[in-house]
Parts: sequence; structure tokens; C-alpha cells
Amino acid sequence: MTPLIAPSMLSANFGELHKEVEMINRSEAHLIHLDIMDGLFVPNISYGFPVLSAIAERAKKPLDAHLMIVDPDRYLEHFAKLNIAYLSVHIEACRHLHRTLQKIRSLGMKAGIALNPHTPINSLEEILPSADFILIMSVNPGFGGQQFIEQSYKKIRSLRKLIESQNLSTLIEVDGGVTLENGPKLIESGADILVAGNSIFGSINPTRTIEEMSRWSR
Ligand code: DX5
Ligand code: ZN
Repeated sequence: MTPLIAPSMLSANFGELHKEVEMINRSEAHLIHLDIMDGLFVPNISYGFPVLSAIAERAKKPLDAHLMIVDPDRYLEHFAKLNIAYLSVHIEACRHLHRTLQKIRSLGMKAGIALNPHTPINSLEEILPSADFILIMSVNPGFGGQQFIEQSYKKIRSLRKLIESQNLSTLIEVDGGVTLENGPKLIESGADILVAGNSIFGSINPTRTIEEMSRWSR
């Protein structure tokens, strides 16, 4: 199986955003990862709807939006209108997660649950069938370019077991500190989608880095 590579626009050069989107369009990337931050759920603010629209208009790859915001229900329709394909909300930010996931699916998007590093996999036991994918944060959310948390391998493996024990085909997305070095071990542990920001946009040749990542397989 070939894992999906999702470059994170958070590390792109915002002064040349259209060029960065076009670089991803021409690359071997499978998705475009968009980090939405509100300054409340995480101690940072990224970009809002005007910037997202500009990206969405040019993007030729499916969009993967990761909402790091409180009460995400307020904006689900907005994201559907932007043609988002994958939409994840944080388990720690939702009061009625089941309802939120149902709503995301009813709007035609794949519904994802994101987990902070401190949130255990067993908190997914009841809700797993309602999600299309799980996003495991392998750094604390809020910033690009942070150090990968080693404990994440164990979390990915136990999530893989939980998915198999329920006979589901839920995808596992890993987000934070993914590099050319740790990618293969993440895939071997069970990752299906790999988000990479700094290791792509901070490299000398981002297109080449994406190409190398796209050759990973399990
Ligand atoms: C962090 C974001 C990540 C971030 C990853 O809160 O969710 O998507 O952009 O960046 P890197 O790959 O640089 O850790
Ligand atoms: Zn993210």
C-alpha cells in the first residue's frame, strides 16, 4: 500500500503562496494539508477563509483541513463550500463529537478525529466507526518545525490494533515532525497519510523531497 503524502501549507512561503500551491500541484503529493488555528485551542493563529479560498481556487489536489479551533461546528458548512475533501476536528475541542462527525459526512467530506499527544487511543473505542480517519498529533499542535514525539510510534501501533479489532478500514494520519528519516518507520507502524511541513518546505528542493516521500510503501 502506498501512503498518502500531504505537504502542510503552514511552512510554505506565504509571500508566494500561489507559486507554492502550483509547486504542490506539479509534485507527486497526494493531498494539501491546511492547518486552521484560532489562538484559543492552540497558542497560534494561522490563516482564515480569504487565504483558504485563494489556495482552494488554485489547488489541483484534494484538500485536507485540520481544525485546531474550539467549537468547530460553527464553520463546517464554510469548509464544505471550499471543497475540502478531508476535515478533521480535535476530540479535545468537541462536546458532541458524534454529532460533529455525522455533520461532516453529511456535507460530503471525509470525517477525521485529531488527537493531541496526551490523548489516549482508548478514548476512540466507541467513536471509531463514525470516523473515516484519525489524525495522530506527533507534536503539540500550534507550530511547524517541532521535534517528533517518539511515543507516537506506540500510539500508531495501538490505533492500528484497535481498527483491526473492530474490522474497520479507518485511515491513520500522522502530523508533526515527519521527516525523510522517520517516515519509513511511521509507515511500518501503521500510518496511511503523512503530513510534512518543515521537512518539505525547508528542504533545498521541495519537489524532490515530496518525490522521495511518495516512493515510501508498506
Ligand atoms: C501543527 C500542524 C502541523 C504542522 C506540521 O500544529 O498541525 O500540520 O504544519 O509541521 P511540521 O511537519 O513542520 O512538524
Ligand atoms: Zn496539521
